[in-house]
Amino acid sequence: MKGRRQKAEGKRQKWRVSPRGDFFSIFAPGLLPFAFRVSGMPSQSALHPAGPQAERIIGLWWLMFWVTGAVFLVVMGFLAAALVRKRRPQGGGEGDAPPVVPEPAGERRMSHVVLVGVALTVFILFVFLIHSFLTGRALDSVSAQEHLTVKVIGHQWWWEVQYENTTASYVLTTANEIHLPVGRPVLFKLTSTDVIHSFWVPNLHGKTDLVPGHENVTWLRADREGTFRGQCAEFCGHQHAHMAFTVVVEPYEKFKAWYDAQLAPAPEPTTGEQARGRLLFLSTPCVMCHTVRGTDAGSRVGPDLTHVASRGTIAAGTLENTRAHLADWVADSQRVKPGNRMPPNPFEPADLEALLDYLQSLK
Ligand code: CUA
Repeated sequence: MKGRRQKAEGKRQKWRVSPRGDFFSIFAPGLLPFAFRVSGMPSQSALHPAGPQAERIIGLWWLMFWVTGAVFLVVMGFLAAALVRKRRPQGGGEGDAPPVVPEPAGERRMSHVVLVGVALTVFILFVFLIHSFLTGRALDSVSAQEHLTVKVIGHQWWWEVQYENTTASYVLTTANEIHLPVGRPVLFKLTSTDVIHSFWVPNLHGKTDLVPGHENVTWLRADREGTFRGQCAEFCGHQHAHMAFTVVVEPYEKFKAWYDAQLAPAPEPTTGEQARGRLLFLSTPCVMCHTVRGTDAGSRVGPDLTHVASRGTIAAGTLENTRAHLADWVADSQRVKPGNRMPPNPFEPADLEALLDYLQSLK
């Protein structure tokens, strides 16, 4: 136990937020589209599109990159030429400024150069304008009658995910991990309970804000199987950078199997320790914030834990879902993610182990 504690302590060091960590946590999301990896989390990259919208966005991005890159090089070339060109002295005494004599042919040449420069700039801006207009139109082109509807509610700092369905018994609530069938259009309804967040899966689409008291909608379709990282893209407080989620794109049969498994109530404890863990869960502050379907725990303040053990990460993509991380999180989540809503839980070591047994049984 002591050894594990020490190990957990060592791991905690990594997550303690230093002033540098603060700086990084604020600015890291800006760097994330260019592939960034947190252990246990898939990479995210706008450069590797997995759906039609991300493809259009990266097309526009590359066009702007190459054109503005070429313009930059040309401008720098002219600047360098102007700097190194030697001015020929045009008479006059030493120390005198050379007299400026307008040269009609040279003046005409210069005005042509300026005219061509202006025309080229206007042309390039028009190309950008038209391309971005067409991209914007293409982004909305995946809507369809046959689609999945997923409601995502932003919280400081995690994601509540609800799969809507006309049949009430098929409505599914989970957190921080979204599974999607490959090739099927999905309508995302986005809102927030506290401040403005932004839903962003760079491999699949651009950003859409989650605004309190208002529902934004966005369509997306994933055409390639894989696991993609999503990230909150609107600064929303201290732990903004630790507000990530996972999108798993899989064949329809696999998605259906996952969905059915998630719809089921939490599995019954199979060992004495698990049963004791459940009792602890239901008799301590855990029950005041979390839902475990099939038990008396039904609060929606924190993430739904009915199948928490089936998820790849905990704390909204902050930690890999391992027993040691769960222990750290339950005991004192403030050390891992300062400012989050979960209070420390000073369990006796044996009780903590029983609780972990129970949480890890929630597959
Ligand atoms: Cu939520 Cu940034």
